[in-house]
Order: sequence, then C-alpha cells, then structure tokens
Amino acid sequence: MTSLADALPLRHGPALPNRLALAPLTNTQSHLDGTLSDDEIGWLTARARGGFGLVVTAAAYVQRSGLAWAGQLGVSDDAHLPGLTRLADSLRANGAVSVVQLHHGGLRANAEASGEQPVAPFADERSGARALTTGEVEQLVADFASAAARCERAGFDGVQVHGAHGYVLGQFLDVARNTRTDRYGGDAAGRARIMHEVVDAIRTATGPHFQVGLRLSPERWGIDRAEAVALAGDLLTGRELDHLDLSMWQVGKTPEDDPTRDRPLVDDYLDLPRHGTALALTGGVRNAADAQSVLDRGADIVCVGRAAVADHAFAARTLDDPAHPGPTFPVTPDQLRAECVGEAFVDYFTAGWPDLVATPA
Ligand SMILES: Cc1cc2nc3c(=O)[nH]c(=O)nc-3n(C[C@H](O)[C@H](O)[C@H](O)COP(=O)(O)O)c2cc1C
Repeated sequence: MTSLADALPLRHGPALPNRLALAPLTNTQSHLDGTLSDDEIGWLTARARGGFGLVVTAAAYVQRSGLAWAGQLGVSDDAHLPGLTRLADSLRANGAVSVVQLHHGGLRANAEASGEQPVAPFADERSGARALTTGEVEQLVADFASAAARCERAGFDGVQVHGAHGYVLGQFLDVARNTRTDRYGGDAAGRARIMHEVVDAIRTATGPHFQVGLRLSPERWGIDRAEAVALAGDLLTGRELDHLDLSMWQVGKTPEDDPTRDRPLVDDYLDLPRHGTALALTGGVRNAADAQSVLDRGADIVCVGRAAVADHAFAARTLDDPAHPGPTFPVTPDQLRAECVGEAFVDYFTAGWPDLVATPA
C-alpha cells in the first residue's frame, strides 16, 4: 500500500519528498504590480516548513490582460523575477518542491484591476471581453512559455498550467461558446489544441529538469464530461507532463449531470493509463484519514487547500499521525493570523468562505 510518506519520483526534476501537496490558493497578498509581498512569501514558506512535499503558488498571471483580481501574483515580466527568486529559494530551503501556477483569467479577468480590456476565446458581452485573434492566441501560448522560463530562471522546480475553473484555457474547452473557426475551435481537438500547445511550448522553453503539470476541471464551465476524460487521456499519453491535477472540491463526488451514477466521477480518470505522469487529486481533504483515502483510491499526489489555510503544518502532522484530525472549522481570524495568513488573505478567505471563519460579533 502506498503511504503518504513515500517519496514520488517524477518524470523531470526532483522527486517529491512525500505525497502531500499544497493546492494552489489565491490569497490576494501580492503587490498591485504583481510583485511578491512579505505576507505571500511568509504564507507559502510556512506551508513548506509545515511539511508539504510540493508547494504550488496561487494562480499567477502570464499576461497583464489576464489579471483576475487585485493582489494577484505576476509572472509576466522580469520585474517579477527578484520576488520569484526569493520565493523559490525559501521554498527550497524549507524542503518543498516548488511550482508556480500559470494563469490567465480570460473573460474572468478584472479590467478595473488590470487596466486592460479582457480577452477570451470568444467575445463576451457581460464581461466586455473581446475575442482573441489567432495571432493573439499564438502570443498567449508564447507568454505561458516565457512565464514558465522566467519561473525556471527564478529557481522554481516547475509550473502548473491552470487549465481548470473556466479561466482562459478552460474557456477554449467550452463546447457551446467556443465557436471559433480557426484551429483553436471547431471540434474537440480544436478546442483542446491550446492545452497541448501550451505544454509543448513550455517544454521547449525550459530545461530537461523542469517539471510541468496541468490542472483540469472534469466538469462544469461548458465542458463536455467525456471530452474532458479524453483530453486527460491524451495529455497523459503525450508523455510530457509531470503531474495532472484534477480539481473537484470533493474527490468522491458523482458527476453533476448524472448524480445518481454509482461510480464517482474520478474513477473515469483513475482508469486512464498514466504513462509515468503522476495523478494529483484535489477536493475535500480535511484530516489525515481523508488524505490517506484519496491515496487509497489510486491518486499519486493528494492536494490540500482549505485545511492547509487553517493548519500550516497539516502535512507534517498528517505524516506523524495517521489520526491527525485536521483543523476544526470555523476558525477565527486570529487563528488564521497565527497560521501565517496575512490580513489580505484573512479578508479574502472570510469573504469567500464565510462558513469556515467565525468573525467576532
Ligand atoms: C481561498 C482559495 C483560493 C483558491 N485559489 C485557487 C487558485 O489560485 N488556483 C486554483 O487552481 N484553485 C484555487 N482554489 C481551489 C483549490 O486549489 C482547491 O482545488 C479547492 O480549495 C478544493 O480543495 P480543498 O477541499 O482541499 O480546499 C482556491 C480555493 C480557495 C479556498
């Protein structure tokens, strides 16, 4: 049986020292120009110190037009390099393998915060996004690759391409809304083309020891469920990815469009041949038993989000004690502050997850 404490060699770069990963968590703690703040390095370093074998940063924008919220980390410009270098050094010094999540908001970008009109695979009246030209899609692919190369220069072990949650890459997968007539639309292969091109471009732009992962949503956001499984299968067969992370909010859930199905959604992915790529699963891990059960289902890596916000040493405690109960929610803002969560993140977490934070009356 695989243990959470087992190391995991990946296709490129360093092995993960254990199977517990910090999920990418937006924390709005960066400076307005996307440079790293002391609060952001403090929050992530505490999770590396707290035993997570893999630490993934918050979604970081690869183009200013893709900035989705004020306080987002940037990887779009060399001005971001000094902070990124400091972060990579600190994560390594504290024993974690370090990965930056590469992101572009597409029609979910925030024009007010970025100062630029949002762009997306298709025009969107509500957000005011305009459709990317074919040349701009090619530039977007190139910008994902140069952001990855910048992360490598900063000393990170790898990147994770954010293909989940209906941001720009996920928007290309939208069956109904991606009506593009160039090679980035049309059939399933056209809709998925950009995912493959981004991965290939990053591989070309980075060295042989650099890790490349990708995060996908298996449903919602206009995605066809079977098409998403096929895409995951193709990505695993491509032999370029170090990890594929499925973002689900609850690993054992049934599909939203078929809730009475007796097989959990994740089983469609667990059945796929991995060809040496690690399968990471995210959603609903709150204690050590949950983490072990995700591994027992067949995951290679167990990602932890909200429990790691409230318990910086969730990983170390879980590795020490298979009965680690995890944090008790709701937590107070003071408890979060004691867990190296800065003020901006306390506010963001409280606003987004009010059930998890007990605010003083
Ligand atoms: C505060 C917060 C910020 C998040 N930010 C990101 C993000 O930047 N990128 C991403 O892919 N997912 C993001 N997510 C989703 C998490 O990575 C994770 O998939 C989700 O929280 C489910 O895992 P959990 O049940 O362990 O919390 C965020 C979730 C939370 C709670």
